[in-house]
Amino acid sequence: MDLRTPHVMNVDPRAAERKLNSEAPWDSFDPAAYIDHNYGHLRSDDAKILEVVRKHFSDHFRGRPDKRGEEVRGIDVGAGANLYPALSMLPWCDEITLFERSAANVEYLIGQREGYDGHWDQFWDALCAQAAYGERVKDPRDAFRRAVRVERGNLFDLHDRPAHWSVGTMFFVAESMSTSYEEFETGVERFMRALAPGAPFAAAFMEGSLGYNVGEHSFPACSVTETEVRKSLSVFAEGEVEITPIGMPGGALRPGYEGMIVACGRRSTKE
Ligand SMILES: C[S@@+](CC[C@H](N)C(=O)[O-])C[C@H]1O[C@@H](n2cnc3c(N)ncnc32)[C@H](O)[C@@H]1O
Repeated sequence: MDLRTPHVMNVDPRAAERKLNSEAPWDSFDPAAYIDHNYGHLRSDDAKILEVVRKHFSDHFRGRPDKRGEEVRGIDVGAGANLYPALSMLPWCDEITLFERSAANVEYLIGQREGYDGHWDQFWDALCAQAAYGERVKDPRDAFRRAVRVERGNLFDLHDRPAHWSVGTMFFVAESMSTSYEEFETGVERFMRALAPGAPFAAAFMEGSLGYNVGEHSFPACSVTETEVRKSLSVFAEGEVEITPIGMPGGALRPGYEGMIVACGRRSTKE
């Protein structure tokens, strides 16, 4: 049973409407409007997230023998119109799958592969505060073009390809795609099960989100807490999941959420 919707109904009538992932207008997601609002320049919340994630991946890969003859495959689940999760994995990946449901976002991502837009340079520069980025990648546009493949797909179908990827990110997806808490949990599960044992991951969440607008359309969200984020990931993680509350440094991005959360860890060998 989904316990989330009645709880949200008491908080805000906008969120009273139950909208499952399959019911939202993903193909009409407007990447230009989304970027304009979120990623036209580097906000202080994203800067903080980049700081946490660049350290997590650098620490994980430091001292590991290069490649060991195996391909390092990354995945960004629900990539949308955000390139920075993929950029955060770039130094270590032979291939990065940008996995995305929306036709409009897939078209955007394919367009970016050949030479991404200039505003993403601020995000790359922030990653370069960690030495591995600049040392391992001399030309990020060229590395991005060579590594990235864009795949249109539904994350609920990822169970067909378990344990496939060696590093993964999922930013603002599991809690920002449905009002259903069950779908939030399943989204996290599909992401985690797609990762190979020991794979490092980073996932970002909106805390207490009541849904959001992009261009002309509104999209559903499931209001989650830090405790719920930890619980959903911990089942599939080895050891501690490191949760960093980001809050709202620099002010709120939009009405109807309580802050951002970034979670980092490693996929366990069991579950
Ligand atoms: C709030 S946006 C986040 C986009 C991006 N990851 C970011 O960090 O800004 C949610 C994204 O999840 C995608 N999405 C929604 N449902 C999905 C599904 N079932 N499978 C894959 N992607 C999905 C949407 O198309 C959208 O790009």
